[in-house]
Amino acid sequence: MKKSDVIKLIFPNNVPTQIVKEIGSAYAPTNIALCKYWGKRDQQINLPLTSSLSIALPSKGARTSLKLHDHDQVTLNGQLLAPDSNFVKRLGQFLDLFRMPHAWHLAVDIEMNIPVAAGLASSACGFAALVLSLDDLFGWQLSKKDLSILARLGSGSASRSLWDGFVEWHIGQQEDGMDSYAESLPFTWSELRVGILPLSQKEKPISSREAMQRTVETSLLYKEWPQKVMFDMAALKKALETKDFDLLGATAESNAMNMHATMLSSWPPICYSLPDTIAAMQEIWSLRQQGCPVYFTQDAGPNLKLLFLKDQADRVKQSFANLDALTLF
Ligand code: PMV
Repeated sequence: MKKSDVIKLIFPNNVPTQIVKEIGSAYAPTNIALCKYWGKRDQQINLPLTSSLSIALPSKGARTSLKLHDHDQVTLNGQLLAPDSNFVKRLGQFLDLFRMPHAWHLAVDIEMNIPVAAGLASSACGFAALVLSLDDLFGWQLSKKDLSILARLGSGSASRSLWDGFVEWHIGQQEDGMDSYAESLPFTWSELRVGILPLSQKEKPISSREAMQRTVETSLLYKEWPQKVMFDMAALKKALETKDFDLLGATAESNAMNMHATMLSSWPPICYSLPDTIAAMQEIWSLRQQGCPVYFTQDAGPNLKLLFLKDQADRVKQSFANLDALTLF
């Protein structure tokens, strides 16, 4: 299945590309998976091998503004990007899905308050904001389901970045992926905090796309992963229903550790952790032993995201001076 085939399913009578306003704009929050998406059943249209579940970080994300221009041009946080940079090429290829060659071009202005490609889900909020702002510019008025499918074509985790709060991305069964989209889950948790622990802002050594594929193809442990996810999805939903923080934290941390174990067992091995990552994990385990319920999750990068409740915020911040503790609801 090609991405262009999915576009035809969403827009059976050609893509409407008459602008309905001068500037199309939108904001999308980034999201952190508590149960990870790791492995694709279709690499072209980003269909996952499992479902996944995330929490949005409403104050961290991307705001995108689009307007017609004589050539594609991208500014990121006020800086004009080189046309041959990976970022601009990936964005141009995504826009090509919606246009005939040379039909129209856009000036894309992105304000993002998280570092790009450091495992902090910049592509998730980036593609979600882009799809929402295209919908705004061209007046598509697509459903959230269709917008989620389009965002998924840019980056799998972007399918989950259209909502605040807890979100589930369904694995789906169909080959065309029209049943693999995300939906908001009906839970809130005002005391829950996510703390971003920045350990390195460097671009990751291997993209999540490449790492995922290598894991699926070479890791002996990967065959256990889908079952682990089924178990963790159920445990997380139970934790959300009953507000059982230890169940939530333990499930998220164990899920991340298992995902990284599949990477370590790949060949050549993939290790996103730095010495500081391991030191921070040990500090978290030691805090737990001292009776402070704090857990972590880790994505395709060395930084950790800490999970804790409001009443532990001061204690956690004492141990991690540069922690960015975020309120979610
Ligand atoms: O959406 P991608 O291709 O950037 O992959 C995201 C993978 C993880 O962040 C490691 C897990 C997830 O579910 O977000």
